[in-house]
Amino acid sequence: MNSLMTMLFFALTTLLALATALPVYVRDVFVPPVTYPHTGTVWFVGQKHNVTWDISGAPSQITNPIGSIVLAHNGLLNLTHPLASNFSILAGRHEITVPDVSPDNSYTIVLFGDSGNDSQNFTISK
Ligand SMILES: *[C@@H]1O[C@H](CO)[C@@H](O)[C@H](O)[C@H]1NC(C)=O
Ligand SMILES: *[C@@H]1O[C@H](CO)[C@@H](O)[C@H](O)[C@H]1NC(C)=O
Ligand SMILES: *[C@@H]1O[C@H](CO)[C@@H](O)[C@H](O)[C@H]1NC(C)=O
Ligand SMILES: *[C@@H]1O[C@H](CO)[C@@H](O)[C@H](O)[C@H]1NC(C)=O
Ligand SMILES: *[C@@H]1O[C@H](CO)[C@@H](O)[C@H](O)[C@H]1NC(C)=O
Repeated sequence: MNSLMTMLFFALTTLLALATALPVYVRDVFVPPVTYPHTGTVWFVGQKHNVTWDISGAPSQITNPIGSIVLAHNGLLNLTHPLASNFSILAGRHEITVPDVSPDNSYTIVLFGDSGNDSQNFTISK
């Protein structure tokens, strides 16, 4: 019973997070494109890197200026362990530490603010 509730809770939070990740075309919704990492990038577990994104299209007023960075593998978002959160989306960069995950070449970074935008596929290695 308890674990069912826990499962439901996680299913709901995941759905909510996914719903907010869908592009919503409303004025002043700012979806900055991730510029690093990109195709060809290789990160090693434990390294520090700055995820960067393009803020040149930022409107003067944005609904949610607080960002978070989530790692996704084959499109599956690791929402339970964001790499970073509670930073300004207008900063254009934020430093993260590469987590200890299985080496693979289909990782993407998803940047959340108003909405989500994902990077190109890149590689995490050990
Ligand atoms: C996400 O960024 C890419 C460029 O990296 C851009 O082409 C795309 O339109 C953006 N997605 C949304 C929903 O704005
Ligand atoms: C990330 O960017 C900040 C600000 O420019 C800089 O101080 C820091 O050294 C950078 N970190 C890495 C790992 O390059
Ligand atoms: C988010 O950052 C702000 C400003 O740095 C800080 O005041 C606030 O306590 C932080 N909130 C969380 C949940 O960490
Ligand atoms: C999510 O990230 C944590 C911390 O890096 C990791 O231990 C866990 O295996 C990841 N979960 C998935 C489903 O990738
Ligand atoms: C990343 O790779 C997956 C398969 O490994 C593919 O489905 C997806 O379209 C790729 N994404 C990008 C942004 O290239």
